[in-house]
Amino acid sequence: MAVTAVGLPLRTGMGQTAAMKINGRATRTIWLSSDSSDDVEILDQTRLPHAVKVVRLRTVADAVRAIADMQVRGAPLIGVTAAYGLCLALRADPSDSALLSAGKTLIAARPTAVNLAWAVQTMTDLLTPLTPSARVEAAYAKAALIADEDVAACAAIGEHGAKIIAEHAARKGGACVNILTHCNAGWLATVDWGTALAPIYKARDAGIDLHVWVDETRPRNQGASLTAFELGQEGIAHTLIADNTGGHLMQHGMVDLVIVGSDRTTRTGDVCNKIGTYLKALAAKDNAVPFYAALPASTLDWSLTDGVTQIPIEQRGAEEVTRMTGRLPDGTVATVDIAAPGSPAANYAFDVTPARLVTGIITERGVAAASEAGLLGLYPERPA
Ligand code: MRU
Repeated sequence: MAVTAVGLPLRTGMGQTAAMKINGRATRTIWLSSDSSDDVEILDQTRLPHAVKVVRLRTVADAVRAIADMQVRGAPLIGVTAAYGLCLALRADPSDSALLSAGKTLIAARPTAVNLAWAVQTMTDLLTPLTPSARVEAAYAKAALIADEDVAACAAIGEHGAKIIAEHAARKGGACVNILTHCNAGWLATVDWGTALAPIYKARDAGIDLHVWVDETRPRNQGASLTAFELGQEGIAHTLIADNTGGHLMQHGMVDLVIVGSDRTTRTGDVCNKIGTYLKALAAKDNAVPFYAALPASTLDWSLTDGVTQIPIEQRGAEEVTRMTGRLPDGTVATVDIAAPGSPAANYAFDVTPARLVTGIITERGVAAASEAGLLGLYPERPA
């Protein structure tokens, strides 16, 4: 089947248009298989940093499982995976009912990141008016476009955010800028570049001296397993810290700014992100450390005005809190219990940082104040 996205590469496979690298090889997080099957392939993020494994998605059920089990994760990437999941659903059955049911199942896979629903809605709006026979080709083309637009948005976020880092570097007379980040909002959370880490990559490319404090990000340790991994692969100076360390570092002048990603940001600038982000924002406020969220338009939920009461917070299995997975000295990967048998545990995956604690929102269109007026200034096409 020949599918094309106007002006964009047909197949965004490893090494074709990617910027970020694993073992020196430019790699995206999701691409179409190079064997003409039109299957989708992903990097299995549950295996990182211990193994670089590729998983093939053949059906929409495979895509739903990859999102729910977090083989792919990060708000922009689960949106792109959902778009390709619809392609897989439609090639099996291009009917109206299959389109609707696949969209519902994909959206239900994870509730907090709005990019998932956004991608399904964008695809559904395009595909519904088409005849079933025209849908598959159009779906692949649109999914490729969504992926490539995500890359472009993240690169632009990087350019805008790098200016903020450059200002800090100038203020420090060129001395090393220390940036704290939480969870993984790097290229592994998107298709390429990342959101919170894109400014860091672009600032590095501009020759700015920087160092990143990486929160380990319990319970799933995306900071330790993904952020530290990708920064290491890119040769960026970084230090992994236990989640509770940030406040101490800020009190001692060891953090110049905080940059995080977001899973959903309200029109009023409330930023929902990985659990623990709010506590970092509180510490940043108390220590006059600027706190930025970096996100593309697909993360903005224009229907919401109060993040704390309106954003659904995913709760995941207690075993993610009571167990940890890591590599043993002999190289095997093992999961161990870290709590007494039967200890009850709660696992809230996200929290909301109110706009009053957010210095600015770095988007693909520039940096906005974390307020309705600020965001509408960048997105005037949205109804006031
Ligand atoms: O549970 P995860 O790993 O999907 O959570 C990811 C985050 O919280 C990221 O910071 C967020 O999705 C922004 S990704 C560019």
